[in-house]
Amino acid sequence: MKNKKLLLSIGVVIVVLIGSFFAFELGKRSSGNAQTEEVQKVSILQYVSHPSLDDIRQGVEDGLAQSGYKEGENIEIGFQNGQGDQSKLATMSQQLIEDSPDALVGIATPAVQSLANETNDIPIMLGAIADPVGNDLVDSMEEPGGNMTGVSNQVPIDQQLELAKQLLPEAENMGILYSSSEDNAKPQVVEAEKEAEEQEFTTERYAVPSSNEIQQTIQAMDDVDFIYIPNDNTMANAMSTIVSEADKKDIPIIPSVDIMVEEGGVATVGIDQHELGVKTGEMTADVLDGADPAETPVYVYDEGKTYVNQEQVEKYGIDLPEAVEEEAEFVDEE
Ligand code: TRP
Repeated sequence: MKNKKLLLSIGVVIVVLIGSFFAFELGKRSSGNAQTEEVQKVSILQYVSHPSLDDIRQGVEDGLAQSGYKEGENIEIGFQNGQGDQSKLATMSQQLIEDSPDALVGIATPAVQSLANETNDIPIMLGAIADPVGNDLVDSMEEPGGNMTGVSNQVPIDQQLELAKQLLPEAENMGILYSSSEDNAKPQVVEAEKEAEEQEFTTERYAVPSSNEIQQTIQAMDDVDFIYIPNDNTMANAMSTIVSEADKKDIPIIPSVDIMVEEGGVATVGIDQHELGVKTGEMTADVLDGADPAETPVYVYDEGKTYVNQEQVEKYGIDLPEAVEEEAEFVDEE
């Protein structure tokens, strides 16, 4: 008789425990789905306007929305654009942080660097950063260790130069055009030189301090059979100048992004820029839900799709190998 009572009370206790566990889990899940009334605040700092970064930024908002964070409902999104100006970036970073947002998003390396100078506490999401370790933003991709995590786009330079070899089999010398003021460009230049050797191209560096020097730099190129452009914001922003100068000298361009192919490059293997933003937005939502940036691995995109500009292919009389033609997406200006 006693035993029965004891068993019964143990049973009741177990049922209550299980019940409250589920109630707790449900509660957690609903806040995870951003169903709570509380409005969170995210502030985005974009380095400069160029089509790729604009796509990434739209992606961030889409990724947040897909994760349940909708503007005007449960999230407030602040935005500033540094217009490629370091001193503006610094002032804007301070302003954004004064509002004590729940998370910050930096789009492009200079924006993240500027935010990182201002706070070690507020989470900073990496928006398509080429080399977070090389630029000392995180300890490692696996364990970032501080207040930053997010998305890294590692340009598939090997595949891009392989494609260059296929399309321009006669080319010998590759000119690398990049900005000397962007930390994100340098590691890519080194990598491009390594991969160029692999494809038996010789290389020459053309570093420009700002977009003002692009025109004269291209005019002064001799013996350059094609121009390679890394994921460089200054170049992405000046693509129309680059294309018109290179066209004058009949130098084909192999850029590192599909959008630059659309703008007049010949071809590339490119990573979807909007997708980079969506993933950044989703990871931002995870952090708003409580994920710790220090322990959230940086997500790496390093595979792309082949994009070809038909008009440029015709201009340079390029024979598209069948394999390339089959897998390529054709993009054109307009
Ligand atoms: N990866 C660049 C950086 O770290 C930013 C970037 C993303 C970019 N997509 C791009 C630059 C396309 C030029 C073109 O700053």
